[in-house]
Formats: sequence, C-alpha cells, structure tokens
Amino acid sequence: MAVWHLRPASPGGELRVPGDKSISHRALMLLACSRDGGRIRGLLESQDCLHTLEALRAVGADIRTRDAGDYDVGAFPAEGFRAPDHPLDLGNSGTGMRLLAGLFSGLGLGVTLTGDASLCRRPMDRIVKPLRRMGAHIQAEDGRPPLKLGWRGPLSGIEYALPVASAQVKSAVLLAGLSAQGATTVIEPAVTRDHTERMLAGLGAQVLRSHRRVTVHPGLPVGGDITVPGDLSSAAFFMVAAAASPGAELRLSGVGVNPGRSGVIELLWRMGADIELQNQRETGGEPVADVVVRGGPLRGISIDAADVALAVDEIPALLIAAAVAEGETELTGAAELRVKESDRIAAMAEGLGRLGIRVSEQEDGMRLSGGRFSGGRVESQGDHRVAMAFAVAGSLAEGPVTVGDVANVATSYPGFLRDAQTIGLEIHGEGHD
Ligand code: S3P
Repeated sequence: MAVWHLRPASPGGELRVPGDKSISHRALMLLACSRDGGRIRGLLESQDCLHTLEALRAVGADIRTRDAGDYDVGAFPAEGFRAPDHPLDLGNSGTGMRLLAGLFSGLGLGVTLTGDASLCRRPMDRIVKPLRRMGAHIQAEDGRPPLKLGWRGPLSGIEYALPVASAQVKSAVLLAGLSAQGATTVIEPAVTRDHTERMLAGLGAQVLRSHRRVTVHPGLPVGGDITVPGDLSSAAFFMVAAAASPGAELRLSGVGVNPGRSGVIELLWRMGADIELQNQRETGGEPVADVVVRGGPLRGISIDAADVALAVDEIPALLIAAAVAEGETELTGAAELRVKESDRIAAMAEGLGRLGIRVSEQEDGMRLSGGRFSGGRVESQGDHRVAMAFAVAGSLAEGPVTVGDVANVATSYPGFLRDAQTIGLEIHGEGHD
C-alpha cells in the first residue's frame, strides 16, 4: 500500500498546480453534448476526470487527445448518445456520477452508473428526487449507487429549491434541464461554485442568473474552446503549508478563484495569513489569479455553515492550519463532510489526535486547540484530500510523519508528490507504481 514519509520543511518558490477538477468534468460533458464541439486546454488528467472522459466515450462521444491536457471534443452525434452494453464506472468520482446522471437522464439514455466502494456508499437521493420530479426514470437501491437510468419520455422543467447547498445537485438538475420541456430553475440555500452556469453561458446555452437562483432553457450548448484554470482545491494544501511556515514565500500561478469556492482564501485571511492575489484576470469565463503566500503566525477562528459552503473541499487543509494556529478553532455546519470520499470529520479528527492535537469531534464539525504536531503515523482512510492535508501536517511537524493509504491522491492530483518536492517539501513515497 502506498505511503508517504514526511520530514519538517518549509515550502518556497513557484508552482503551477494542475487543472481544476470541477471545471474539467464539466468541460468534457458540456462539449460532448454541444452542437459544434470544441477544444479543451489544461484538462486535469486525474483518475476522476479520466473516468468521466471514458464514460462519455463509451456512449459515443468523440474525444481525441492532442497532447497532455489538450483535447478535441467532437460535436454531439446526430444520432444521439448510444446506450452502452455495460455499466459505466465513475471510480471515486461523485461529480462524475451526479452530473452525468443529470445529463444522461435528460437525454433519455438507458445506462447504469457505478463506482468504487467509497462512491457506492455516497448518497444519491439528493439527485434522484429532483430528477424523478422532472419525469426521469432513475433508480438507486437504498439511495446509493449503482444508479439505473431508463427512458420514460422527455423530462419537464421544474423549479427546485435545493435542500442542501450542493453544486453537484444544482448541476445535475441544470444539465437535465438542457433537454427538458420548459425552463428549469434551481434555487440554492447558499451560494456554491457556479462553474456549470458560467460554462453553459460561455458555450452558448441559455442561462439566466440572479444571486442564488439560476434558470436554464432547453437547448444543448453551441460549443467553443475552454481553457481550464489551476485547481484552487489542490493549491490549498500548498497555501496552508506556506502560510503556516514563518519566512516561507510561495507563488502559485494561474489558480482559479471562483467566488463560489474561494472561501479558503477568506478563511486563511481571517486566521491572519499573508496571501496576495496578483494578476487577477479571467480565463474562459472563470476568475483566475496568481496566489502569493508568505508564512507567519496564524490564529484560530470559527468556521460556520456559510463558510463551509464556500470551502467544502478545503476544510481538511484548513484544519491543518488551525492545528498550528494560536488558540481555539471551532468548525460547525460541516455535516456534509461526513458524506464525501470518506467521513472527513472522523478522518481528520482521528489523524489530528494521533499527531498530538487536542480535538473534540462533534456531529457537524469539531473543536480543536492549536499546538504543535508531533511525529507519528496517520491514515488517509483512502481519501485524497485527507492524505494531502496530513502531508502538509508532516511538513509542519516536530518529528517524522507517515501518511498511510495515499494511492487515491491520483483521483484529483496525480503529480502531488513531485509538485510537493518541487516547492521544497521533504516528502518521499513508498509503494508507488
Ligand atoms: C463539486 C461540488 C462539491 C465538491 C466536489 C466537487 C462540483 O460537492 O465537494 O468535490 O464539482 O460540483 P457537493 O456538491 O456535494 O458539495
């Protein structure tokens, strides 16, 4: 089983993190169902995105590789997508499964979507309910994958108030709405990442937006070219490593800073971190910046449900910053983290405790007192973000740290080990392919 060994180190220099995972999934899906197709540059070639790519190929999408991260996606086939004769495996990817379920339901594709053991434990009722309300034929035993999709006739647009703040559910409903009769509106309880809405508009679909409300009108996108910015969720680990290392200076260039998910920057600012956004610009309709982080003292903060919605994937990294900050940090309103690739509340509380941090786990979060990480061994619970968070802990610790079961990092950040070494972290892999 692959493990990492870490020794204390301070990061520095400059790095361009790989392409954004959320945007890469959407680029593949939206171009594959577009009238003219288009080209994707900077696609994240992680296991999650490659599962989406292969699932689309299996139903007839014409996706061709030019070069690393550079793909041509052909127009939506005149005869439509074809039902494959085998279940489509989305691996570890909740985004792949939930968004494709929406897209394929709208297109009336008879298909079974499945995934690995972790994905098959994750809740799917949240998409099954609205898609059924639109008229979709979709089944999930006990509300978990595999998802079985059939055809009952065209879907009808609905107005749907999301019970949970989830960009995946919002996107699944909007993608189904592209092929429905009548308009489809989603109302969010809190703002979440709006990559789907931005990309739909950029590719010529009809989208209307106002704050927490978004409406799509039927009609597949026209198509166009997409450049994928760097993934803020990947950058977040190195931001924390630098912010918590006094004297460090790290520049992460070309990072996506979509306001629906840039909460990690805001929260690190609240902790007192020195982070500067330079060269703010737009790439393919998405805000992008070079993120410069300088290390210094941090202080504990309160993180609540509204914060979590804007930093849902960055909480593991933020907890590492909190663990070395001065004072207490309280995390509440984070129950959603229990249904991610692992139960991230439990996985983080356990690992923090093993590295000597005083932590008390609650149903929807945790409380912890900042201190110093001791050395020791922690388990990732097969979760890529937990593994990378504890790699950062290892670089800030007083003794050597081993992180167990790290192979799943390839689902979102296949080059993490190399990039971590590039910026000066003392990390060595064992048992890697
Ligand atoms: C994502 C939305 C979030 C996030 C996930 C990616 C997306 O999930 O955790 O990693 O691409 O829409 P939820 O919608 O379940 O919060």
